[in-house]
Amino acid sequence: MPQIDPNFSKNRTQADNHVEHVVWGPVQPPEVLGIHGTSVAVDFDICIADGVCIDVCPVSVFEWLDAPGTNPHKTHPDLPPLLSERKADPLREKDCIFCMACEVQCPVQAIKITQPS
Ligand code: F3S
Ligand code: F3S
Ligand code: ZN
Repeated sequence: MPQIDPNFSKNRTQADNHVEHVVWGPVQPPEVLGIHGTSVAVDFDICIADGVCIDVCPVSVFEWLDAPGTNPHKTHPDLPPLLSERKADPLREKDCIFCMACEVQCPVQAIKITQPS
C-alpha cells in the first residue's frame, strides 16, 4: 500500500500555489495532481476521497475540491477504488491544531502532518 512520502518537501519541488498553500510536483493535470499543503500535506495522487479527514478535523482545515479526471491508480495501481473524483484540500492548513486525527484515520495514508518547529 502506498503512503505519502514524509520527506516530500526535500524530495519534491514546488510546482504551484493553490489558494494559500503550496503544491509539490510533479503535476500533470487532470490525472496527476501532486501534494497540496506543507504542514498539512495531502497527496492528491493517493487520496481516494474517503472523507474521514474532513469529518474528524475539529477546526475544519479541509474542504472538498472537485478533481474530474484524477487518476491516482496511474502512480499507485494497488490503491483501493476511487470513491469519487474529488480531493480533501487543506485550504485552512494555518488553522491546524495538530490533533493528528486526519493523518491517523485516513485509510490510505495520504496525509502527513508536520508541526512547524
Ligand atoms: Fe482523501 Fe484520506 Fe481524506 S483518502 S479524503 S485524504 S481521509
Ligand atoms: Fe485537523 Fe488534521 Fe490538523 S484533523 S487539526 S488538520 S492534524
Ligand atoms: Zn489545494
